[in-house]
Amino acid sequence: MVLPQIDRALAQENHLVRCIMCGKVTRELAVDFRCANCGELLEVEFPAWASAPSDGGDRLKAVWRERRTSNSPLDTSGVWRFREMLPALSDWSHVITLREGNTPLYDLPGCAKAGGLDHLQAKHQGMNPTGSFKDTGMTVAISFARQNDFKWVACASTGNTSASMAAYAARAGMRSLVLIPAGQIAWGKLSQSLDYGALTCQLRTDFDGCVRVLNEIIRRYPIYLLNSVNPYRLEGQKTAAIELLEQLKWHVPDHTVVPGGNLGNNSALGKAFLEMKQLGIVDRVPKISVIQAEGANPLYRTVHERYGRELVSVEAETLATAIRIGRPASWRKSLRVLEQTHGCVEQVSEAEIAIAKAEIGADGVGCEPASAVTLAGLKKLVKSGFIGRNESVVLILTGHVLKDPEYTIRFHRGDLSIPRMADDKFRTLTQSQRKTPIVLDDSADAVLHALEAEDKRRD
Ligand code: F0G
Repeated sequence: MVLPQIDRALAQENHLVRCIMCGKVTRELAVDFRCANCGELLEVEFPAWASAPSDGGDRLKAVWRERRTSNSPLDTSGVWRFREMLPALSDWSHVITLREGNTPLYDLPGCAKAGGLDHLQAKHQGMNPTGSFKDTGMTVAISFARQNDFKWVACASTGNTSASMAAYAARAGMRSLVLIPAGQIAWGKLSQSLDYGALTCQLRTDFDGCVRVLNEIIRRYPIYLLNSVNPYRLEGQKTAAIELLEQLKWHVPDHTVVPGGNLGNNSALGKAFLEMKQLGIVDRVPKISVIQAEGANPLYRTVHERYGRELVSVEAETLATAIRIGRPASWRKSLRVLEQTHGCVEQVSEAEIAIAKAEIGADGVGCEPASAVTLAGLKKLVKSGFIGRNESVVLILTGHVLKDPEYTIRFHRGDLSIPRMADDKFRTLTQSQRKTPIVLDDSADAVLHALEAEDKRRD
């Protein structure tokens, strides 16, 4: 079957699009963003970079710094500020931005101690406009959708991509179709997609089933696909790595630790670090490690059981619903990043995720469960010696703590049921971390009594 083409995506050619498997350059993108030759994923390449500038990237660093004092919409976006590293639009007025990016880098002293490190930092991509890292990719991909005159955009999602897409589509005056697994996404995310006006379909299947259905829809209706198989999304997501290095005054950390779901984000960050090295902006790259939940661990199993030769898909099950994915689209890209940066893949249990999430909260930062796999994985990587006590490490926190309040409340109330662990055992394990809300009479004495008890407990 010949797929419909997206005609004007390559109108402005500072870039080309190449298959990651057979290397064929695509002049006309198919609606499923796969190689017409071999069916694999595509990626954006910048031919002009073959001859890297000799000034060690100083000119680029200066331009990016300068833009921080500008008020133009392109410059105030933490994505488009780095537009030299992005595919160019034929008309910059097509850019749809919500001032994404510009996310904070936090010290996490409590988590450092829990992880056995001297120092630990986290870049909080949950501080984006819709509360997740998806916004950095969405601004780029939706701008290309608009440039190509699409009326509809669509994604299958575990909740964050859909929230982000719905917001950017609304800003662009476009219609958006969301396919999500019924009953398996966090309320905060579902509420966002409704509020931003998406046509939201809860399908009686899992994320992988939603992807299957959407693949059929794009063949039958003119609709622009915004899942991370769209290579323009990953280009936008690269900018978190550039912004991180700028925040670190271009000192490259030894390790970056990223959650793994559909495996687009670690691929994007890896691409950015490697491209910055190619351009002479930095002289080395961090080891990028990917952490998965034990119940949704296809990359972990692919590496450990098949040496990366073929994907081991799984029936995914985890309370970290954002990464409840059994057949990740970008597994090959992800493997390549692990290889090229000498990172590794680790898996963590549901109890380890819950404890790590509470520890990140206790540092005054907070995140959604899927982001907390990073700290849980870090602890294992320090224990195994892969990460040294004195090494510099940055966790990538991907989603805001308010995305999944139900998980957090249930954890603190003591009624979060962890798969394959007795409730009593989990409650005992997390006793010192839980903060159960206290119901009291309307009396100052009662409140003061609670306050004194808390002082006694803490001193
Ligand atoms: N963390 C959060 C909060 C996510 O929402 C996701 C993915 C990931 C991590 C994993 O990133 O897929 O690039 O490996 N969420 C997607 C969604 C799948 O539909 O919102 P990844």
